[in-house]
Amino acid sequence: MNSSVSPPVPEDLDVSKLPGHVAIIMDGNGRWAKKRLMNRIKGHQAGAETVRRIVRTSREIGIPLLTLYAFSTENWQRPEIEVATLMSLLKKFLDTERNEMIENNIRLNAIGQIEKLPEDVRISLKRTMDLTEKNEGMILNLALSYGGRAEIVDMVKAIAGKARDCKMDPDSITPEIVADHLYTRGMPDPDLLIRTSGEMRISNFLLWQIAYTEIFITDTLWPDFGKDEFVKILIDFQRRERRFGNVG
Ligand code: FPP
Repeated sequence: MNSSVSPPVPEDLDVSKLPGHVAIIMDGNGRWAKKRLMNRIKGHQAGAETVRRIVRTSREIGIPLLTLYAFSTENWQRPEIEVATLMSLLKKFLDTERNEMIENNIRLNAIGQIEKLPEDVRISLKRTMDLTEKNEGMILNLALSYGGRAEIVDMVKAIAGKARDCKMDPDSITPEIVADHLYTRGMPDPDLLIRTSGEMRISNFLLWQIAYTEIFITDTLWPDFGKDEFVKILIDFQRRERRFGNVG
């Protein structure tokens, strides 16, 4: 065997104890570019390559559900050229990775205010979601024009509307019913949240869903994030004791 080729699943990773849902705040594209005296756009282009790499790695390792924070409700406030670049990188990713998703049994899903995306992106997104909807190997969940507060507002509107129309008794509302009216309905909460580039904040991401999520923040900038570090974080996750508010 050629020892220079690393196996798809490293030996010290326990594949029976993988997180069922990994969520990632992909941060640091701008700083990556600035460090190299490049335009921020170059940082996003490099970031899109990391998206490809990490999706592939997650599938190889056997992560069932990967949620990537690709564009927030607040990101619309960035300069027009930067928003346009992010939208075009997203469309390119969908168009170029569609076949690989089909071949690798990956199902694409999207959460967020999808109706706010440009029409060409929505068409590519729908096409990829339709063509991959029966795939069961992994779900790639892209958070697009996503905001945790907007999601909670939409959930409240949906539940309040049902209560107003006498289709739901307010006294019967439980955490499960709330979860069932979020964009992530039917998905397990993230077990692990990774944030790159060292910032210690949540940035309006999956506010309800991360109540008991294990958090890992790395200083690595998103374009530099790779398989080796991802695996190290997964091993760290496997060593943590999760108590969910109970005793050990
Ligand atoms: C944060 O970096 C990153 C984003 C706002 C967008 C993430 C987008 C990508 C990784 C590329 C395109 C996505 C896909 C799915 C192909 P930042 O710009 O806030 O970095 P900074 O904090 O260093 O300025």
